[in-house]
Amino acid sequence: NRHSVASMLLIVLLLSACEGPQSTFDTAGVEAERVLSLFWIMLAGAVAIWIVVIGISYYATKATPGQHSEKSGLRLIIWGGCIFPTVVLAGLLFWGLKMMPELRRPADGPTIAVSGERFWWRIAYGVEGDPGVVRNLPQGGIPSANEIWIPVDQRTEILLSSPDVIHSFWVPPLAGKMDAIPGRVNRLILEPTELGVFNGACAEFCGTAHAQMEFRVVVVTNADFEAYVRAQAEPAAVADSPGLDLFMQNGCAACHSVRGTPADGDVGPDLTHLASRRTIAAGLLPATEENIAAFIASPDHLKPGVEMPAFGVLPDGEIARIAKWLGSLE
Ligand code: CUA
Repeated sequence: NRHSVASMLLIVLLLSACEGPQSTFDTAGVEAERVLSLFWIMLAGAVAIWIVVIGISYYATKATPGQHSEKSGLRLIIWGGCIFPTVVLAGLLFWGLKMMPELRRPADGPTIAVSGERFWWRIAYGVEGDPGVVRNLPQGGIPSANEIWIPVDQRTEILLSSPDVIHSFWVPPLAGKMDAIPGRVNRLILEPTELGVFNGACAEFCGTAHAQMEFRVVVVTNADFEAYVRAQAEPAAVADSPGLDLFMQNGCAACHSVRGTPADGDVGPDLTHLASRRTIAAGLLPATEENIAAFIASPDHLKPGVEMPAFGVLPDGEIARIAKWLGSLE
């Protein structure tokens, strides 16, 4: 009938929303695969138990008093109410515990420090050991922002922290969530099994622009990963440019650094290779000159709650020149 057709359509629509670069049902990493298999087993078990319980309840409404002895009722309670749940829960516990050592085994790939900050992600490659509480990432780390490259089929260790409030780092196709907490470092292993670009998001409410605190994870071959990190380590290839002069004159360098220039601010994202990234403003907009200009002029309009002040008072021509220069930093 019409109702069942409508509900079927709704289910199809809901399931189709579960595909794409940010779905836990479209896994591309070891931990996410384990979690998904756990989900299906729990779902199947819950459905089976539901059917049995409803079946027994239904039967109970049909049974006549005195049809069963007290003993058979007691047997049902002992087996169905005590032994069966104990066995099922013990089985699930055992299965879950068995999974832990495999998921927690040490990384064999790179270590990358990631700091969740209102409302973007500070990244440092080539971090060794424990970076402690990350406000200024350790010397020697190669800074970037909002786009994390990792090698396929390796266990990359992500060291998570925050200087302000609690954020949560989540790349649904690759692994579960892990909080980024001020004053401590949490570890998360990403072990992707497929190449591709995956969306990540902040999964802990952290303020007005929480919903626009995204990032990208780019999974590449090991050779590509090493070439990328080498390129990111280089200072920007900057010639003298009116854009750079305006960037310095208008105080952009108080918050942003561009290695290879005098700009060495540490408050906002490092912009050394801004144009090599897919997005600006933590996954908000594609990294084009037009979007950079629009964001400089009116960041709060595009991303309400953002901490960067608006520079709309600057003449359009100056903003365009700054954006052109930033858009050339590959
Ligand atoms: Cu950061 Cu929500």
